[in-house]
Amino acid sequence: MVAEQADAAAHFDPSLPFVRKARPIIKWAGGKSQLLGELRSAMPSRYNKYIEPFVGGGALFFALGPRPAVIGDSNPELVNLYQVVRDAPQRVAKLLSRFENAKDAYYEIRSLKYEELEPDYAAARMIYLNRTCFNGLYRVNRKGQFNVPFGNYRRPNLCRNGELEAASKLLKGTDVILADYKALLKSYAYAGDFVFLDPPYLPVSKYADFKRYTKEQFGDDDHIELAKEVDRLASIGCHVVLTNSNHPLVHRLYARYQISIHQTKRHISSKPQTRIGEDVIVVATNGTGSSCTHQA
Ligand SMILES: C[S@@+](CC[C@H](N)C(=O)[O-])C[C@H]1O[C@@H](n2cnc3c(N)ncnc32)[C@H](O)[C@@H]1O
Repeated sequence: MVAEQADAAAHFDPSLPFVRKARPIIKWAGGKSQLLGELRSAMPSRYNKYIEPFVGGGALFFALGPRPAVIGDSNPELVNLYQVVRDAPQRVAKLLSRFENAKDAYYEIRSLKYEELEPDYAAARMIYLNRTCFNGLYRVNRKGQFNVPFGNYRRPNLCRNGELEAASKLLKGTDVILADYKALLKSYAYAGDFVFLDPPYLPVSKYADFKRYTKEQFGDDDHIELAKEVDRLASIGCHVVLTNSNHPLVHRLYARYQISIHQTKRHISSKPQTRIGEDVIVVATNGTGSSCTHQA
């Protein structure tokens, strides 16, 4: 729908009621809610189209309510969730209200195979598992099966009033694509677009090992490929903002661009050593020079 470059910048006014009400639907490892202020500062004031190919929980997308927008991820269950919530929020809310917060029910529902489920049910199940599992985490094993244990929370908020409708309104007009980030960018990114890249982070210690959003991993070679893609996007006139951990390879790969360092809390870590981390924000445009700023 938005494959061609839009002529004029068209953004939602964040004061619109449904933009104010919309929140991320699921909790996601690496969610960017703590960095929203810094990310907003790194964005251009005007752009044609918002593109986020590693969308995950979509913290920035839901905070901005941008339009036109293209979001994507390589996790099929997550992409299905956004497509179904966009198109049929009431069906998802109805299904969700039937799920039970009990250990036996949880493990039975968890054991179902995503590929064998109807899209609406799969979407409701994903929200249910996310809100009743331990720590609200999405993590899969090597076979791609969700493997987080039951959280045993007394009253998880399975379906918040009006939240899926608000998310649906915000998602209307958004292309939600199941794809590898490179394929998505090749088809959708043009001069004047704002591209936000939040890939699985490079691990900075042996404890920072959570990266299994899909059965495939995102390793050093993938980060090297991604940096080439950032160069390509900047060279065609996109404004790119990328986040990653404060890892030496990130500084090497993006040395020519603006890099800032930010301290963040890692909510998903159970180990004290890894509860505080440092994220970097890279801003890459045609005109960016090399500089490094540190901010606490
Ligand atoms: C750090 S998370 C994004 C977090 C998100 N910004 C948020 O606020 O919740 C990275 C996402 O990239 C996705 N991903 C991993 N490899 C990918 C690839 N090759 N192409 C597209 N998405 C990928 C994962 O499924 C995961 O959802």
